[in-house]
Amino acid sequence: MDKHTEKHFNKGLSELKQWRESFGDAATDKSLQVDDERVAEVFGELSTRLKGNYPFHHPVYAGQMLKPPHPLAQAAYAMAMTINPNNHALDGGPPSSEMEKEVIAELASFFGYGDEYLGHLTASGTIANLEALWIARQTHPKKKIAFSANSHYTHERMCGVLGVEGIKIPVELSGDLMLDQVQPEEIGTIVVTLGTTGLGEVEPLHKILPWARTHGIRIHIDAAYGGFFRTLKDSDVIDGASWKLMQEADSIVVDPHKHGLQPYGCGCVLFKDPEAGRFYKHDSPYTYFTSDDLHLGEISLECSRAGAAAVALWATLQLFPLKEGEGFGPVMRKCREAALRMETLMNESDGLKVFKKPELDIIGYFPAEVQTTSEISAKSKEVFDAGMREQSFYLSLYKVPASGFAEFHPQIKVDTGQVTILRSVLMKPEQKNFVPELIQRIEAHL
Ligand SMILES: Cc1ncc(COP(=O)(O)O)c(C=O)c1O
Repeated sequence: MDKHTEKHFNKGLSELKQWRESFGDAATDKSLQVDDERVAEVFGELSTRLKGNYPFHHPVYAGQMLKPPHPLAQAAYAMAMTINPNNHALDGGPPSSEMEKEVIAELASFFGYGDEYLGHLTASGTIANLEALWIARQTHPKKKIAFSANSHYTHERMCGVLGVEGIKIPVELSGDLMLDQVQPEEIGTIVVTLGTTGLGEVEPLHKILPWARTHGIRIHIDAAYGGFFRTLKDSDVIDGASWKLMQEADSIVVDPHKHGLQPYGCGCVLFKDPEAGRFYKHDSPYTYFTSDDLHLGEISLECSRAGAAAVALWATLQLFPLKEGEGFGPVMRKCREAALRMETLMNESDGLKVFKKPELDIIGYFPAEVQTTSEISAKSKEVFDAGMREQSFYLSLYKVPASGFAEFHPQIKVDTGQVTILRSVLMKPEQKNFVPELIQRIEAHL
């Protein structure tokens, strides 16, 4: 935590301490006290073990979707955690439940929903998508749920959990979904991913929407990764066509714990029609008493949820508005520009080749001096291992069907069914400046 944040954090903690003490003596029971030497030992071991992580905080880590939360989110979360509110019922945390309702209103308005909507935070993108697919099943019980071959595996898996038949739609090289390969009358809901997990592809909502409307098919948008890129919908750095239509979708998932600067434990699901709430309806003999206002547990599948997650997101959105010119916009722009810079530099060098044009801030690439798909896989793995071994760079790997790969790179001989390439998620704005150094470090291992 930087000095600036620490000052406000300490002040906040001391105010909360005074508030706690205002209730009178509540000294910690002896049973909860631990010998200082033993604490020192355990915390010593803890620091050692935690250093076994990769340096997610540093621009040198250009692997998976991982980075620490913003220090301000850490501080807000830690302050709330000293109270540990539970956003299940208003009984468990009135202020943090209010804050959750406020951030949901902000997110709903950011995605273009009107005054009427329904939504809540969740533990993760997986749970948020599960809830969206559950509502898809409840509204169209006899119909299937469709998703593209590039969608997150959770959709296929959750269809299994829900007992709904899922249809995987193949994707063309252009990124268009092969909608002519499905029977539209069988489908109740189609999942459209804005920012795929693999390479950050933006599925063409602007083309899928008219097709879905013609056939009366609902749309669920999985923007778990990409959602915050909507701040750039009118900018010159991304194609805004799909982002501008998000308000047309029946449900939207976004993960503040990915690009929203939050610690893990913060996903979000939104429904355009608040009527979705009727499927959640339940009562509890021991829960909803302190207020007649909406208790968030009445509209979510999870019961206990961290009020601290809502508090941290609330504070973050106060300090980082969801705007193109301030707050989140400049952060997202830098990440996008990092990927564009990486693409340009690779196109200018002989060492690495871009697999396909990045659409957001995730880029796939491979060593250029190879002839076959088996050599690409072997060399990519070698480079990936070397970076981690020498702690000089951290990348991820990505498997592509070799036939699709060859259509992008016909000069490469296909001698395997799949090809493994290198992949970088550039989700730290600092990476825009670090990209030339990163490429140099990777190329030193080719
Ligand atoms: C597009 C997309 N959907 C869903 C998920 C699952 O989210 P979580 O890991 O928060 O459960 C991810 C995670 O990477 C994702 O990228």
